[in-house]
Amino acid sequence: MSLSLILPFSLFLLLLLLLSAAPPSSAQSQNFSSLTASNSPWLPTQDRLLLSLNSVFAAGFRPSPSDAYTFSVWYYNISQTAVVWSVRAQLGSSATLSITAAGQLVLTNGSSSRNLWPSNANASQASSARLVLSDDGNLIFADVWESFNFPTDTFLPNQIMNGTNLTSPNGRFSFKSNQLLFNNTESYWTAPNGNAFEKLNETGLIVQESGGAIYSADFGESWLRRVSLGNDGNLRLYSYRPGLGKWTMVWQSIPELCKIHGTCGSNSICMSDGGNSTHCVCPPGFQAASTENYECKRKIPFTDLAKTKFIQLDYVNFSGGSNQTDLVARNFSDCQAQCLTKSNCLGFMFNYDGTGYCVLQLDRLLYGYWSPGTATANAMFLRVDNAETDKTTFTGLTSVLETTCPVTISLPQPPQESSTTTRMIAIICTLFAAELISGIAFFWAFLKKYIKYRNMAQTLGLELLPAGGPKRFTYAEIKAATNGFADLIGKGGFGDVYKGELSDKRVVAVKCLKSVAGGDAEFWAEVTIIARMHHLNLVRLWGFCAEKGQRILVYEYVPNGSLDKYLFQSRRSVDEEEMGEVVGQRKPVLDWSIRYRIALGVARAIAYLHEECLEWVLHCDIKPENILLGDDFCPKISDFGLAKLRKKEDMVSMSRIRGTRGYMAPEWAKTDQITPKADVYSFGMVLLEIVSGVRNFEMQGSLVESADWYFPGWAFDKVFKEMKVEDILDCQIKHAYDDKVHFKLVDRMVKTAMWCLQDRPELRPSMGKVAKMIEGTVEIMEPKKPTIFYLGDE
Ligand SMILES: *[C@@H]1O[C@H](CO)[C@@H](O)[C@H](O)[C@H]1NC(C)=O
Ligand SMILES: *[C@@H]1O[C@H](CO)[C@@H](O)[C@H](O)[C@H]1NC(C)=O
Ligand SMILES: *[C@@H]1O[C@H](CO)[C@@H](O)[C@H](O)[C@H]1NC(C)=O
Ligand SMILES: *[C@@H]1O[C@H](CO)[C@@H](O)[C@H](O)[C@H]1NC(C)=O
Ligand SMILES: *[C@@H]1O[C@H](CO)[C@@H](O)[C@H](O)[C@H]1NC(C)=O
Ligand SMILES: *[C@@H]1O[C@H](CO)[C@@H](O)[C@H](O)[C@H]1NC(C)=O
Ligand SMILES: *[C@@H]1O[C@H](CO)[C@@H](O)[C@H](O)[C@H]1NC(C)=O
Ligand SMILES: *[C@@H]1O[C@H](CO)[C@@H](O)[C@H](O)[C@H]1NC(C)=O
Ligand SMILES: *[C@@H]1O[C@H](CO)[C@@H](O)[C@H](O)[C@H]1NC(C)=O
Ligand SMILES: *[C@@H]1O[C@H](CO)[C@@H](O)[C@H](O)[C@H]1NC(C)=O
Ligand SMILES: *[C@@H]1O[C@H](CO)[C@@H](O)[C@H](O)[C@H]1NC(C)=O
Ligand SMILES: *[C@@H]1O[C@H](CO)[C@@H](O)[C@H](O)[C@H]1NC(C)=O
Repeated sequence: MSLSLILPFSLFLLLLLLLSAAPPSSAQSQNFSSLTASNSPWLPTQDRLLLSLNSVFAAGFRPSPSDAYTFSVWYYNISQTAVVWSVRAQLGSSATLSITAAGQLVLTNGSSSRNLWPSNANASQASSARLVLSDDGNLIFADVWESFNFPTDTFLPNQIMNGTNLTSPNGRFSFKSNQLLFNNTESYWTAPNGNAFEKLNETGLIVQESGGAIYSADFGESWLRRVSLGNDGNLRLYSYRPGLGKWTMVWQSIPELCKIHGTCGSNSICMSDGGNSTHCVCPPGFQAASTENYECKRKIPFTDLAKTKFIQLDYVNFSGGSNQTDLVARNFSDCQAQCLTKSNCLGFMFNYDGTGYCVLQLDRLLYGYWSPGTATANAMFLRVDNAETDKTTFTGLTSVLETTCPVTISLPQPPQESSTTTRMIAIICTLFAAELISGIAFFWAFLKKYIKYRNMAQTLGLELLPAGGPKRFTYAEIKAATNGFADLIGKGGFGDVYKGELSDKRVVAVKCLKSVAGGDAEFWAEVTIIARMHHLNLVRLWGFCAEKGQRILVYEYVPNGSLDKYLFQSRRSVDEEEMGEVVGQRKPVLDWSIRYRIALGVARAIAYLHEECLEWVLHCDIKPENILLGDDFCPKISDFGLAKLRKKEDMVSMSRIRGTRGYMAPEWAKTDQITPKADVYSFGMVLLEIVSGVRNFEMQGSLVESADWYFPGWAFDKVFKEMKVEDILDCQIKHAYDDKVHFKLVDRMVKTAMWCLQDRPELRPSMGKVAKMIEGTVEIMEPKKPTIFYLGDE
């Protein structure tokens, strides 16, 4: 047989094979790449999927709860699928999607003939009418309709956002160009710079129109990504990491969920539960009006406006949307008097920072929230009937102002070795007097500080910081400021620190980083994030320099040095001489109440990093060297946010040296999965050192070389088995320890430390809880003995 005969024959066979394999009329239960008039209709029961060519996306009828279906597009070829677009209608099992002979795309719900497809989709030519799914996840019908023009709650990479809006699945919240809105009108968030979103880049930045961009925490990597507006009203960027097998949130518009309008109903106050959940409570004098939208109503309606009084709610703000009138009041009574003159004034907000911030709340109380995390000292004063007997349940402002900064205290000089009773009495009296004076002094100090700070901020243009980012310095400026890097004030894990003075007379600490990972853009993105973190107990970052391969950070200068110099001074003096410091005078010994304040301030700042700045702001290097003491011994954490800049190998090898000794949590030595609980561990160790005044790997001034020695375990036995708290207290101030005065403070610190030092991360409390434990606002259960067994069980 000649070749010319075989060829047509085999072609014929092939054709036959193809036809029998895929007869178009019975394209019933298989995946396909386009819906046409000929393979219509498409029913939920057919179990067919429309796949993109790269198989990353699928479209089809997705079963939803209660036996219904939605027609959706979703990320398909990954273990945790995610819906990215839907027709917002619950469909029955007899729904159909078809392309009519005239070329129209029609989605009907069973017998009802109403077309549920969003907007009219008629192909200009019936022959070209086909529905396909692009590799980007865009569902395209002929050239007349595409799902990217009708987003539901999600934007995908490369989707042009211009002119389109997102709506949360529950319909309560929407995102329009640059704003998040509740009920379509009440704006509660505006994009940085006010610029509208343009598109999401798959490397993890949201590009804004007319300039600007938002960087995700994992910016730079090409993951699968999406921006979604959740039912809680928060806009979040998620990325899918193949290694983790799940979606991870890498940016969110609003860290404090309670600031989202409409989370609670009118008169109600939203409270954060620390993580991503909230609950609503009624203020004193009010009770729940309805359960489904968390509204509250007055227990005693106003009868006579002349007979009203105010209840103080610390840290509560009814944030706009309501009819508010801003005033500048000379003082508290002035603000209150202005409210009393108005019959529709339901209360007022006043800030104790000396600015005269006074806001009258007229007609209604909307979008209330409680937020003690920030440094502002504001309270809401709610107008109630004189007959109201409820007491305030929102307290803490007074004690916070007393227990954290700024409190002016002069420290007693270190006592001599003798410990006579008279000396003890003298010390206690000094402490008592100091507390008393500080109470009176605090308001004045607060005022002074605030004004100083505000003036400084104004002259430096720093009010613009959150939007514009930190200042970029040139290398020449830095060199001039530090006098050619002349004054070395510290050597840290991240690099050397020099003291300097900027041209505007600000004294700064300049940190020259070594071994920084990543390029210019990443460095800039990181630094911007660090500069946005504001907390009383965090060292402020003013600016940076990235030039000539240098990576330099410019921080505020914190005058009193680091905590280790105070805690471990009997053994430090030699090192200090090496550092060229003046050793002449001993540092004062920190008394119990100052130690307590330091512990609390540090706990609050770490909680802020973990819980309000999103979880990825782990410190990873908490130790006394990184806790600086400002004026009045206000603690300030330094080096936060730097862990991310560092090459990962460095971090791991550093920790592998000794996972059990020092401040590194045991899991550092074991896995690469580091969670916020690693910081909790390090903080626990610091807390124990604050109490004991010795390094955790030292005993009576000498290094402990035994591998079995574990300071937390030893301390636990002393305190909870032998009941000898005195044995672990810092011997320098042991004699100043008075059971009655200090027991509670010290007990809370020790118990909290024990919880933080649990070997298993999941047993350690979150940092927010730790702060509360130290504060004494939650009960502390009896801790278990910290061990290092976890390391062993591979
Ligand atoms: C079609 O989809 C089904 C269900 O998701 C899947 O199990 C099957 O492997 C897919 N078939 C092809 C050829 O992609
Ligand atoms: C999904 O499909 C894309 C493109 O084919 C591929 O690169 C990726 O590895 C797939 N992911 C999984 C989890 O299979
Ligand atoms: C579609 O039909 C189902 C019952 O078949 C019904 O439960 C559902 O509400 C209908 N949806 C719409 C949007 O009409
Ligand atoms: C789309 O098709 C429907 C039904 O065939 C028709 O009523 C409508 O006028 C068409 N619209 C456009 C814009 O062609
Ligand atoms: C966005 O759309 C509007 C009109 O819809 C247009 O005027 C504007 O130029 C668009 N902007 C960009 C950046 O494409
Ligand atoms: C988006 O919202 C704006 C403002 O409410 C509105 O004018 C516009 O029509 C909306 N766009 C779409 C596609 O719904
Ligand atoms: C939403 O807005 C409408 C008018 O725009 C108003 O009548 C309604 O009370 C609002 N709903 C809520 C929960 O605020
Ligand atoms: C994403 O952004 C990076 C950095 O700006 C840029 O180099 C890249 O081209 C962008 N990718 C796309 C698809 O726009
Ligand atoms: C909140 O966090 C919990 C656990 O951390 C998680 O299971 C849940 O899905 C989160 N909820 C939202 C709305 O992100
Ligand atoms: C109260 O909330 C409003 C709106 O979010 C905000 O502008 C204001 O600064 C807040 N007041 C205080 C004292 O935090
Ligand atoms: C706000 O209060 C003023 C003065 O009481 C009143 O004139 C105005 O109508 C109120 N506005 C709204 C939106 O309630
Ligand atoms: C508050 O300011 C008013 C008006 O200046 C003044 O009359 C009053 O004495 C001040 N009250 C206090 C307590 O300072």
